[in-house]
Amino acid sequence: MIHARITGTGSYLPEKILTNDDLAKFVETSDEWIATRTGIRARHVAADHEKSSDLAVHAARRALEAAGITAQDLDLIIVATTTPDMTFPSTACLLQAKLGAGECAAFDVQAVCTGFVYALSMAELYIRAGKAKRALVVGTETFTRLLDWTDRGTCVLFGDGAGAVVVEASETPGILASRLHADGSHTGILCVPGAVENGKVTGDPFVRMDGNTVFKIAVKALAEVADEVLSDAGLEASAIDWFIPHQANIRIIESAARKLGLGMDRVVACVARHGNTSAASIPLALDEAVRDGRIRPGQHVLLEGVGGGFTWGAILLRW
Ligand code: UT7
Repeated sequence: MIHARITGTGSYLPEKILTNDDLAKFVETSDEWIATRTGIRARHVAADHEKSSDLAVHAARRALEAAGITAQDLDLIIVATTTPDMTFPSTACLLQAKLGAGECAAFDVQAVCTGFVYALSMAELYIRAGKAKRALVVGTETFTRLLDWTDRGTCVLFGDGAGAVVVEASETPGILASRLHADGSHTGILCVPGAVENGKVTGDPFVRMDGNTVFKIAVKALAEVADEVLSDAGLEASAIDWFIPHQANIRIIESAARKLGLGMDRVVACVARHGNTSAASIPLALDEAVRDGRIRPGQHVLLEGVGGGFTWGAILLRW
């Protein structure tokens, strides 16, 4: 039986850091409010010349290097992003060209903050079906470009960044279980309503969110989908060594960990330094915990995403 395993991780954060105190200079907020309600202290912001594919290139090169392969070895590239460089071609095609990969399949996935979990799950299916052997999966966002900097309910929450993994066919299990969900009836609680039509942007081009409703749905969805993958893999929550949920709000992360009976010493949380980087948040956190040695071979890692759509999903790994 063919399994799918992550063999390399990489990430990239743009140089510019915007702290809560920086934000408080131009929007009515405070470091105290943001830190208490969200756990966020700072976020990175892409330079004017940096597009999502540029952030992705750095993260992807690091993941390829860690896996010990070259871009030419890839037979699949999937990019999860809500902030593509262009309407088309896909950011995955732009990334393929920038990496100098061959003529492998390349496409984008749009599931907002659950995008990386959707993309990784797709790569797993391609590999297990024997349709790909070496896939690159990237979450990359220049999300701050979707922000209305006068809306304190949203502009303090998000940041830019990219994370990537190489997934390869393997005889030993890596991805043990995956589950994806969506409920399109919740579109209005978290969206950018605008679109490009007839030569102009029609509708509101900024992120709009009913934060309280999103918070409640997120906590419930994360708990349910964790139970599903644990049950699929025949494991108890106590078997989880590292929990890496989407990094949106430390209170959501704490609540999800509590429901699983896990202490915060088993949670990878970088929301304080990155804010919510949407599709990039999970691979950014994963790469950090792999590189600093927290995640070790044989350990169980639970990845969980939740976001606009509404979408949510989980992937359980043995490292
Ligand atoms: O990937 C999924 C993406 N989104 C999320 O995960 C977000 C989920 N939701 C949340 O994280 C939280 O709901 C927020 C952080 C967005 C809001 O926190 P909250 O504790 O639910 O606050 P609230 O919306 O109930 O607002 C409380 C007060 C309000 O003032 P009044 O009406 O009580 O006078 C807001 O106007 O806080 C005010 N407020 C702020 N004050 C200072 C809202 N934003 C700010 C701000 N600074 N940035």
